[in-house]
Amino acid sequence: MLFEMWTSFIIYWILFTYSYANNNYNNFYKGHELIRVLPKTNEHLQLIRHFEDNYEVDRWSEILQINRDIKMSLPQNQVSKIKQLCKQYGIDVTILNNNLDELIKKSDHISKQYKKRIQRSIKDRIPHHLTDYLTYEQIVQFLNKQHNRSPSSKNFTSLFSIGNTYENRSIWTIRIGKPSARRNILMDCGIHAREFISPATCLYMIDKLIDEVNNRKVSILSIFNIYIIPLLNPDGYEYAQTERRMWRKNRSPNNNNNNYYYYNTNSNCMGVDLNRNFGYHWMENGASTNPCSETYAGPKPDSELETQSLQKFIKKSSQHWDAYLTFHSYGQYWIYPWGFALYMPDDYIELKNKAQIGSEALKRVNGTLYKIGSAANLLYESAGGSDDWAKGVGKIKYVYTVELRPSDDMNDAHAHFAFMLPSTFIEPVGQETYVGVKEFLRSLITSRRQISLSQKKP
Ligand SMILES: *[C@@H]1O[C@H](CO)[C@@H](O)[C@H](O)[C@H]1NC(C)=O
Ligand SMILES: *[C@@H]1O[C@H](CO)[C@@H](O)[C@H](O)[C@H]1NC(C)=O
Ligand SMILES: *[C@@H]1O[C@H](CO)[C@@H](O)[C@H](O)[C@H]1NC(C)=O
Ligand SMILES: [Zn+2]
Repeated sequence: MLFEMWTSFIIYWILFTYSYANNNYNNFYKGHELIRVLPKTNEHLQLIRHFEDNYEVDRWSEILQINRDIKMSLPQNQVSKIKQLCKQYGIDVTILNNNLDELIKKSDHISKQYKKRIQRSIKDRIPHHLTDYLTYEQIVQFLNKQHNRSPSSKNFTSLFSIGNTYENRSIWTIRIGKPSARRNILMDCGIHAREFISPATCLYMIDKLIDEVNNRKVSILSIFNIYIIPLLNPDGYEYAQTERRMWRKNRSPNNNNNNYYYYNTNSNCMGVDLNRNFGYHWMENGASTNPCSETYAGPKPDSELETQSLQKFIKKSSQHWDAYLTFHSYGQYWIYPWGFALYMPDDYIELKNKAQIGSEALKRVNGTLYKIGSAANLLYESAGGSDDWAKGVGKIKYVYTVELRPSDDMNDAHAHFAFMLPSTFIEPVGQETYVGVKEFLRSLITSRRQISLSQKKP
């Protein structure tokens, strides 16, 4: 009996060490709990916001509404306090996972197994942007390779940086379009560090679009220059890849916020939530003034280099962008402004129709269901997003935030992976998203053909 116990222990130990030995993560999330709560009143919603601001509770679900499940992760030292407060205010708590570290390692493990299986079954290795969440350096290499792939890819693409980050990484951007293209589309990925499926999806689309430059037929690339920024927050992404898998913000320090004009926020906590930092109705709703919070909006609007780089790039040609799409995860939403409040833009019917066209095309690929609606209605009011700024200040008409897989519906088989979608999903998510985006872009051609004559390249 004792012998058997020891043998199985040793076997377990060997397997565990073998399969997890290569992962980059320390055990930071050991003992962090993932819980699900169901708020039933406005008081409950306020309490949850209070948790986020004061207890470093990290809300995973973008949704914050009465009678909608919310996922939150709790640092180990706050677990009992939060549970006690929930009990006191009558909020039901379900524990989904009492060791977040395990979930991170499980996802990593599935990715590695997948990669091995692929490499065994296909002798000529498939490109690793489909099997791995690439590092920043690998992404830069990938972009250079794509740009230099063929004589026509050299002619029909350009690769440039729109600015540098706090840690001085270049924010690379690729343009793909034929000489006849007169209209411009902007897409970005990876504003939030931990949403690894987002940059992976941008890379997938870049690869597929460059496949199309050789296409002699009229394609969307004859009409549009498509600008893609595959990783807007490389500092945060690198940190999430190596140190803290659940990191969301950028990596600028907050210990010298001298030039504040709203709040005195000197703190040793690092980082600003870039998607709360954009200066359009900044801080009006759903953002935090606490630098330790994952939704910290920054010391002032537009304070961050990443925010400013994107803004400068959009403004350089503000009259000429047809659409801006920003890719996040997770939840499976295709959403349009406004996020800062429950108002609708005047042209929301048109925005909604195009979102429908895109999400229906996406669904036809693999049945993946996206919900569409305005950000504040579908999720919760939160100001300072790049989408609101792009429409409100950048004056771009068709603006969307696309929240990729998985769904946050607890009945969905993959919902529990949340931000930790294994790399097995890169291809299916890329495929369906690419189809959805292309169909959306085609729908713009017919609706605004006449305007294209007066438009120039930025
Ligand atoms: C690339 O552009 C150059 C100069 O405009 C042109 O001579 C050449 O034929 C082009 N190559 C391809 C493959 O389009
Ligand atoms: C930041 O990076 C740029 C290149 O992107 C380089 O020219 C510059 O010297 C770097 N600055 C610092 C302080 O390292
Ligand atoms: C749809 O997705 C599932 C899992 O995500 C995958 O097993 C299946 O092969 C996909 N089907 C198609 C047609 O891509
Ligand atoms: Zn996000």
